[in-house]
Amino acid sequence: MGLPTGSTPLLTYARLIELYRLGKISFKNVITVNMDEYKGLDENHPQSYRYFMKKNFFNHIDILPQNTHFLNGMAQASDMECSRYDTLIKQLGGIDLQIGGIGCNGHLAFNEPGTSFETRSHLQRLSEETIKANSRFFDQEKEVPKEALTIGLKTIFEARQIIILATGKSKSQAIYEALLGPYDISCPASLLQKHANALFICDSEAASLLPQDQLKNGFSLKPSSY
Ligand code: PGA
Repeated sequence: MGLPTGSTPLLTYARLIELYRLGKISFKNVITVNMDEYKGLDENHPQSYRYFMKKNFFNHIDILPQNTHFLNGMAQASDMECSRYDTLIKQLGGIDLQIGGIGCNGHLAFNEPGTSFETRSHLQRLSEETIKANSRFFDQEKEVPKEALTIGLKTIFEARQIIILATGKSKSQAIYEALLGPYDISCPASLLQKHANALFICDSEAASLLPQDQLKNGFSLKPSSY
């Protein structure tokens, strides 16, 4: 599984923990690769994504720590760290199920607008918008790292199944652009218009700009129509 951080998946993780506690699911045979990590934050930093995943998910389920994988934000040579991660994902056989959030600017993981759809893991300069949005987790905006390591859009696209979660009005434009805007790097999530097995799960606010008359039974785009 490819996994995200952020506010959006918190309830998903809480529900999965609940199902684990009820004995309905187990993560013993699950291998995870997280999507991204801030450059310069170590795993003990409360805002690092490794810390987030342990606190909000992994510490509460039966996943084996050695089966949870991350980009190392402390790696001296980012390019070597990125190729290590890409090789690892390849050796694991790729990603079966990628779960993700979406940025207000349409980013997937930390692939900001303008990122090529062909990218693999790379060092990404964060947009002003993303830094501002993520500053809510830090004491001051200036503490938000300016760079992050992220898996690339090509790797996300190669996942066999993709679920993107979006909640709140602030995501409505990104959801509209992703589904009905042009297939274009200006909205990284529009990449998924061509994916055969991508599901967007949105609350009514995030879906508020989509054609409401078509939403009752789920809004479906056939990749072949692009
Ligand atoms: P959020 O972040 O879940 O905290 O809104 C999503 C994202 O930026 O991809």
